[in-house]
Amino acid sequence: MSETQGFVALVLAAGQGKRMKSQLPKVLHPLLGRPMLSYPVDAAFGAGAERVVCVVGHGAERVTNMLSQRYGERVSCALQPEQRGTGDAARCGQGALPSWNGLIAIVYGDSVLITARALSTLIEHAKKHPGPLTMLTATIPDATGYGRVIRDDAGRILKIQEDRDCSQAEREIREFNPGVYAMRAGFLREAIAKLTPQNAQGELYLTDLVAMAAEHGGACGVPWDVNELHGINDRNELVQREHDLARRIALEHMVRGVTVRDPERARIEPSVIIEQDAVIESGVELRGRTRVGRGAHVDVGCVLIDTVVGDGALVLPYTVSNESTIGPDTRIGPFSHLRPGTELGRSVHLGAFVETKKTRMGEGSKANHLAYLGDGVIGRDVNVGAGTIFCNYDGVNKHVTTLEDGSFIGSDSQLVAPVTVGKNAYVASGTTVTQDVPEEAMAIGRARQVNKPGLAARLRERLMAMKTARSK
Ligand code: UD1
Ligand code: CA
Repeated sequence: MSETQGFVALVLAAGQGKRMKSQLPKVLHPLLGRPMLSYPVDAAFGAGAERVVCVVGHGAERVTNMLSQRYGERVSCALQPEQRGTGDAARCGQGALPSWNGLIAIVYGDSVLITARALSTLIEHAKKHPGPLTMLTATIPDATGYGRVIRDDAGRILKIQEDRDCSQAEREIREFNPGVYAMRAGFLREAIAKLTPQNAQGELYLTDLVAMAAEHGGACGVPWDVNELHGINDRNELVQREHDLARRIALEHMVRGVTVRDPERARIEPSVIIEQDAVIESGVELRGRTRVGRGAHVDVGCVLIDTVVGDGALVLPYTVSNESTIGPDTRIGPFSHLRPGTELGRSVHLGAFVETKKTRMGEGSKANHLAYLGDGVIGRDVNVGAGTIFCNYDGVNKHVTTLEDGSFIGSDSQLVAPVTVGKNAYVASGTTVTQDVPEEAMAIGRARQVNKPGLAARLRERLMAMKTARSK
């Protein structure tokens, strides 16, 4: 295949990431619910990479498993048995592409902010540039820790000097190497073979290829926005990058007509879909396959995981929902808890401290205060009173409680499943329902009340007498 047709990408991910101080390989640390390494891989595919090869080493098995689960055959792994530097890593990666003669993009596995546009722009420049190497560069006030871009008086790139190998004067240079390159395959193969570990870290530096390119046709620098180029070395940077990603996602939703009230404090994972005119308030977390419908309002502090919020629904503060569906125009919260398998229909109302699990609720049904509704099948226009509990578990098995259309469950009732309350039936407050209630019937199961006139005063006297006796 000719190189004008495409490119392949190497993602270097074999390093340990010592500064993370973690049992988990650095590139598997999650940002917004996805492993670090998935970000540069997705950007490479987004830019049109024909193949992506990840170089793995530290924690190779776990990293390889993650990649095959996520990408299947689309990503291959090349093992770097010993972490001898980024140059050695690139050599291992290229070993997995023996017949590729086009352009090879190389990025580091912690480049989570890199965009498809950055990579495709790099490739466009590389195609036009006659020399064998093109790289992104960026400028910041203090480039400590990064390799510096050394240029000659005419502004041509001469080499990259690693931070630890910099002279005092070179340290002042603010243009740095973000570690995003495109190289011609033949050049990469030959140049890597010439690398030596003559540097402060005794490693094979990929960055030494820049000086070699400068001498053989030129190294081309493409200045790019530093906000897409910061990597991750420690936990502090991990959190900052996650924050950067979250803000970027929030702004993208706003461009598409969603209000994200406080983009600094909303965490919306990349997989989440939000439709127009939805409003997401501060401190909301939307995770996984969550989908928020048109005009829906997700209020402060809600955590929604794999949850579908219908059009026009209102999710009041501090509601938590997992693997559930909230119907259109439904109103839930504050402090509702939907556990997996909850399906609320249209115009349902759930109030504070109502917990549901694997429960369906039909249109117009309500449970406005304090309830546990587990394994329920609730029809339409059912009213579930405060303090109702579905006793769904007998210690071994779970059982279903069915409330048919129009039924009414008085406050503080317990329904001992399996049990059915028929259509339009009433359950009086405080009833423990252990048998099915027929349609249109009323069930009442509580001790009859007895009033004893004047007994309150006598009771008080007795209690007072006991109190004085004790204090003597
Ligand atoms: C590297 C660059 C530096 C640049 C900086 C940008 C080199 C020599 N230096 O420095 O110029 O400014 O990134 O962030 O390339 N890796 C392997 N195998 C190895 C060593 C590293 O796969 O043997 C991988 C790591 O997993 C990591 C990436 O290469 O994803 C970069 O390695 P790292 O040690 O972080 O390089 P820096 O010192 O940050
Ligand atoms: Ca680094």
